[in-house]
Amino acid sequence: MYFSFETIPAFVWVFIATYVVYWIKKPRLSKNEPPMVPYKIPIIGHTLDYLFNAEKFLAKCRQQYGDPFNLYIFGQVTTIAGNEIAHEVYGHSDTFSMTNATRDSFPLYRILKSIEKTDTLKLTVKAIREGLTAKLPSFTERVQKTLMFSINQEIGDCSQPKLINTTNNFSRMVARSVADVLEISKNEDVVNAFADFTKDFTSIVAIPPIFSFIHPKVHTQIITLPLRFGFNPILKHLITLKKHLKPVLEKRLKDKEILGDKYEPPLDIIEYFLNNLESETKVITDDYLDKICDFIFILVIASIHTTSHHTTFALYDFAGRPELWDDLYEEQVKIDKECNGELTPQHINKMVKLDSFLRESLRTFAANPHRSFESYTFKNGTTIPKGRIVQTYLSDIHYNTTAYGPEPRSFLPYHGLENNFPASKTDKDYFVFGAGKHACPGRFFAVHEIKIALHKLILNYHIKTPSGKIEKKIHVGPLALPPNAGLIFESRKK
Ligand code: HEM
Ligand SMILES: *[C@@H]1O[C@H](CO)[C@@H](O)[C@H](O)[C@H]1NC(C)=O
Ligand SMILES: *[C@@H]1O[C@H](CO)[C@@H](O)[C@H](O)[C@H]1NC(C)=O
Ligand SMILES: *[C@@H]1O[C@H](CO)[C@@H](O)[C@H](O)[C@H]1NC(C)=O
Ligand SMILES: *[C@@H]1O[C@H](CO)[C@@H](O)[C@H](O)[C@H]1NC(C)=O
Ligand SMILES: *[C@@H]1O[C@H](CO)[C@@H](O)[C@H](O)[C@H]1NC(C)=O
Repeated sequence: MYFSFETIPAFVWVFIATYVVYWIKKPRLSKNEPPMVPYKIPIIGHTLDYLFNAEKFLAKCRQQYGDPFNLYIFGQVTTIAGNEIAHEVYGHSDTFSMTNATRDSFPLYRILKSIEKTDTLKLTVKAIREGLTAKLPSFTERVQKTLMFSINQEIGDCSQPKLINTTNNFSRMVARSVADVLEISKNEDVVNAFADFTKDFTSIVAIPPIFSFIHPKVHTQIITLPLRFGFNPILKHLITLKKHLKPVLEKRLKDKEILGDKYEPPLDIIEYFLNNLESETKVITDDYLDKICDFIFILVIASIHTTSHHTTFALYDFAGRPELWDDLYEEQVKIDKECNGELTPQHINKMVKLDSFLRESLRTFAANPHRSFESYTFKNGTTIPKGRIVQTYLSDIHYNTTAYGPEPRSFLPYHGLENNFPASKTDKDYFVFGAGKHACPGRFFAVHEIKIALHKLILNYHIKTPSGKIEKKIHVGPLALPPNAGLIFESRKK
């Protein structure tokens, strides 16, 4: 073998680099840390188990090492917080932040300028509370109309059974009805942009942070590389949105000026922003448009893919369980007759079986990341350093035997009904929407929307899985995606 003179320093460098990575990557633990689950392969640590087998792996570790414990995932020590510790994490919202923890894996701040400003989140939450939740009853009629339009468009007449692609047609159906409340559903380009956005979003979040083995920042750099080379699916959607919104906003300002007190404010979130973001705006400047679009986009990100995925999960849960069909259908028929096809909020409140079924569908395996802003000692006595990612391991809460009986992992469609827990209510045994100060402000709207969709679909169609069995969710680490088998729809005979 021939070695040139130059290869020798190269070897030396590789040797040094490997050594440095090794040295850096030896997980550094501070004093009194939660127990570290042993692992065999250096650097890789528990990454593979976590990525491909999270549910079983975490359950096993929880049983052996208690609560909390540490794993070594993607080159980072990660603390897994079970039942008690997770409650503590949600109870200390000044120390633990979920929004900050998602920064590395989904660097939205690169695209939306206002997202990092301190009051952006506060304003968004306020807009949801005042502009959506408080006005929920007035949205009911509107949501219904858009949904029926969407159902006809994406599913349509199924006198012959039809396989519907839940990834495409279905996500567009839900996206349209959510987008409607934000005003932006009137333009098919925008609806497609947001249905696609849900897909783009998912594909970015599902990229395993392989490069975090070197450093989390490297992952952030790599996944934002396409952005810097001009390929930016998200920016594309933002531009579509801006193009659509500008004339809409201008028209409203003009109408307001001309009509004065006679101006009838349209019922949507855009109107809320127009009145509350910066009063006295007379012209839609680029700056103003940027700002309002950032807010709309944050709402889109928070609302569309969550609502769409959970509606889809619920339908797969329904379709795979024939024993539930008649009971849930009967409730919907009864309500439909009572309201003559036009739901009001009172009728939606009467869908108690559907609500309970939805709550059960939402009660699943999940882990939500939080970053600690400072070194913190849990009540249990173990300490984690500043900057640590703490995953709240929700299975430990959602499958607790005290709360959910001897077989907590079975599907309990009427647990909520029997115990008087509505789907939108957070509870110490139900952390689907988080808990405490940062609990999801959109949950009332989401549940309202999903119930209307399920009601209309169950009322109009027989819904089955192609295999006739329960379709399993797709898991990427603790992230769950809807199955992609599709669902078979068949129109009910009236
Ligand atoms: C089924 C649908 C949904 C689920 C499962 C869901 C779940 C969650 C969860 C787990 C959190 C984090 C809570 C925490 O940090 O403790 C959250 C936060 C949030 N959600 Fe939702 N969400 C849903 C729908 C929505 C909708 C429709 C909107 C908007 C209209 C929305 C807006 C937000 C916002 C703005 C936050 C951040 C709140 C904060 O940090 O203070 N969500 N959501
Ligand atoms: C805290 O929990 C861990 C298990 O995660 C356990 O090993 C440790 O002994 C506990 N510490 C105290 C002080 O109870
Ligand atoms: C949030 O996380 C990033 C790391 O991605 C960190 O640099 C930043 O200082 C953190 N804190 C706040 C308040 O955003
Ligand atoms: C689904 O979407 C496609 C367009 O993507 C449309 O042509 C079709 O009519 C929709 N509905 C069904 C049932 O496939
Ligand atoms: C269930 O939760 C309660 C309180 O939240 C807790 O005391 C109990 O230990 C949990 N049970 C199991 C089996 O984890
Ligand atoms: C639905 O469409 C997606 C992407 O267009 C495709 O990957 C998937 O296989 C389709 N599913 C069915 C059941 O046809």
